[in-house]
Amino acid sequence: MSAIEISNLAKTYQVGFFRKTEKAALKNLTLEVHEGEIFGYLGPNGAGKTTTLKLLMGLMFPTAGTASILGRPISDPQVKRSIGFLPEQPYFYDYLTARELLEYYASLSDVPAKERSSRAQRMLDRVGLGGAANTQLRKFSKGMLQRAGIAQAIIHDPKIVFLDEPMSGLDPIGRREVRDLIQELNDEGKTVFFSTHILSDAETLCDRVAVLNRGELQGVGVVADLLAETVGKREVIWEGASTALDALGTKVKIVGDIARTVIDDRQADAAIDAIRHAGGRLKSLMPVQGALEDYFLKHTEPGAGAEVKSE
Ligand SMILES: Nc1ncnc2c1ncn2[C@@H]1O[C@H](COP(=O)(O)OP(=O)(O)O)[C@@H](O)[C@H]1O
Ligand SMILES: [Mg+2]
Repeated sequence: MSAIEISNLAKTYQVGFFRKTEKAALKNLTLEVHEGEIFGYLGPNGAGKTTTLKLLMGLMFPTAGTASILGRPISDPQVKRSIGFLPEQPYFYDYLTARELLEYYASLSDVPAKERSSRAQRMLDRVGLGGAANTQLRKFSKGMLQRAGIAQAIIHDPKIVFLDEPMSGLDPIGRREVRDLIQELNDEGKTVFFSTHILSDAETLCDRVAVLNRGELQGVGVVADLLAETVGKREVIWEGASTALDALGTKVKIVGDIARTVIDDRQADAAIDAIRHAGGRLKSLMPVQGALEDYFLKHTEPGAGAEVKSE
């Protein structure tokens, strides 16, 4: 069974003073997430990530299309039991302690009264906040709040965890902690669907990613496959005969006796021959690691969040 199945999902907001202008925030999204995956939902600000998550959480209704979670339509109340959600910028009442917050969420998600306190403590331990259980949230750092938010999302032991921009606004340590936590949840067998515009986090963490831009899906796949589109380049490093590859017209960087340049894969044989022929010595010929960022930039446009026109 797939964890999440989204079919032709669309959302158009009515905007403007008389709500006469339509804004297509999500267009015709079809997407499948498998059980057990860490799935990254990528896109620049305004791409439609939060809109998608709110639709999946049943927090608003789609203009068109359907979605199901673990085989049940998202309108089915049973679905709520199997999912946990961390909203983008969650707001928690400042004067609650972490324990109170979690006991409150436990009560909302049908955890039996006598289990709430032990469950709250277990979840706080789980996210590394065990020692801060009795501290008021106003004294928490952003990273601690985010971890408390994740504890809230998993208090009822859901099968699928949805996280909207869980790493945004965190310092590198906080991001690392959240990343590790996502990995651990996945190791325990949970499916994790998270949105982010921080590509490096997705790159290291995700089994598969989808890239969204202006409400439209640009691509979905295994990170390595998406990257394959941007590779196909090699860096050549050689010693001596620094002009050996001038015929290729690439930019050559020379430091002392060492020259380096980046060429197309298919020029590799010719480059090796040329360096040898000119009396140089090949030192290395390595594929250039394509970054997810390259893919992302190729499929998104600057200012994409500024205006989404309905077509
Ligand atoms: N409640 C709303 N009313 C009108 N427009 C909205 C609303 N929420 C989001 N939008 C617009 O929909 C588009 C997608 O927004 P959102 O889903 O929040 O993107 P993301 O989470 O990827 O940054 C944006 O252009 C945003 O301005
Ligand atoms: Mg968002």
